[in-house]
Amino acid sequence: MGIKKVAVIGAGSMGHQIAMLSALNGFQTTLQDINEHALKKAKDQLEKRMQEWVDKNKLTQEQKDVAFRNLYVTTSMEEAAVDADLVIEAVVEKLEIKQEVFQQLDQFAPKKTILATNSSTIVSSKLAEVTSRPDKVCNMHYFFPPLVMDCIEVVRNEKTSDETIAAVMEYCNNIGRYPVLMEKEIYGFIANRLLFAISNEAIRLYEQGYADFKDIDMVAKKALAHPLGPFEIMDLSGIDVGYYANLELYKETGDPKDKPAKSLQEKVKEGHLGRKTGKGWYDYSKKGVETS
Ligand SMILES: NC(=O)c1ccc[n+]([C@@H]2O[C@H](COP(=O)([O-])OP(=O)(O)OC[C@H]3O[C@@H](n4cnc5c(N)ncnc54)[C@H](O)[C@@H]3O)[C@@H](O)[C@H]2O)c1
Repeated sequence: MGIKKVAVIGAGSMGHQIAMLSALNGFQTTLQDINEHALKKAKDQLEKRMQEWVDKNKLTQEQKDVAFRNLYVTTSMEEAAVDADLVIEAVVEKLEIKQEVFQQLDQFAPKKTILATNSSTIVSSKLAEVTSRPDKVCNMHYFFPPLVMDCIEVVRNEKTSDETIAAVMEYCNNIGRYPVLMEKEIYGFIANRLLFAISNEAIRLYEQGYADFKDIDMVAKKALAHPLGPFEIMDLSGIDVGYYANLELYKETGDPKDKPAKSLQEKVKEGHLGRKTGKGWYDYSKKGVETS
């Protein structure tokens, strides 16, 4: 089955760019969010970003205009899902909310429609079980920011059909991304499992007073040739995103070693979530000044 129409549910940091990427590559795309303000912000951000691409000759004015004609926004999930071939869910990382969204999507979308989740950690079998089409459910895990990062982890659950995987892999190729297929689902997939291992160790070293977080970042960059240190990555992707992902893992395993670190919990409580709030591990409020 060929994918022509795409719906993206959730217009936050990920969803608005996932939708733009789709529209830029010729797919009729509907971006849905329950929050009207989120949709307005998404449109403003995309307009600004695409204009920058035009100014830098990465995109022609005509390509930009066509892409925006392909992109439609709505607060109605029914309207978004009713004629979609592929729905990509990108709402907050909370299982109960995602299950509710999948139940609604299952009602509104035609039987042929593939329902994918962009969750960073939640395996698709947990969402497939609330639908009547488990064979058409899988993970499509994009990386932040989706307009730049060109890899997508596609993860099948036990019931995902070969046709679903083939259609999703083809779609990823058609939007200029490298899909990596995981044949079996596991919490955190590939990239985040590697990242968790590094960031958990980095936080342990910091919280137990072995080294300052800036020095840990320095070692990751200078000695391991990582482009960013683990604390810089936490600030970039959102400290709350990592915190809630950790919380989900802890709820699942009950293992004390999976409990979110104290310093992450404090930062979430204080609202210091990283770049998006101007402060996380580093301070982004004054250009060129970075203090803890
Ligand atoms: N931020 C990242 O780096 C990153 C990377 C990969 C994957 N993800 C995953 O993508 C998903 C979204 O993350 P984000 O960072 O974009 O979150 P975000 O908080 O920026 O955006 C979430 C959006 O979902 C909307 N929403 C909430 N409930 C909804 C509902 N019932 N129906 C429609 N919209 C609803 C909110 O209004 C908000 O605009 C999460 O599952 C996250 O794990 C995030």
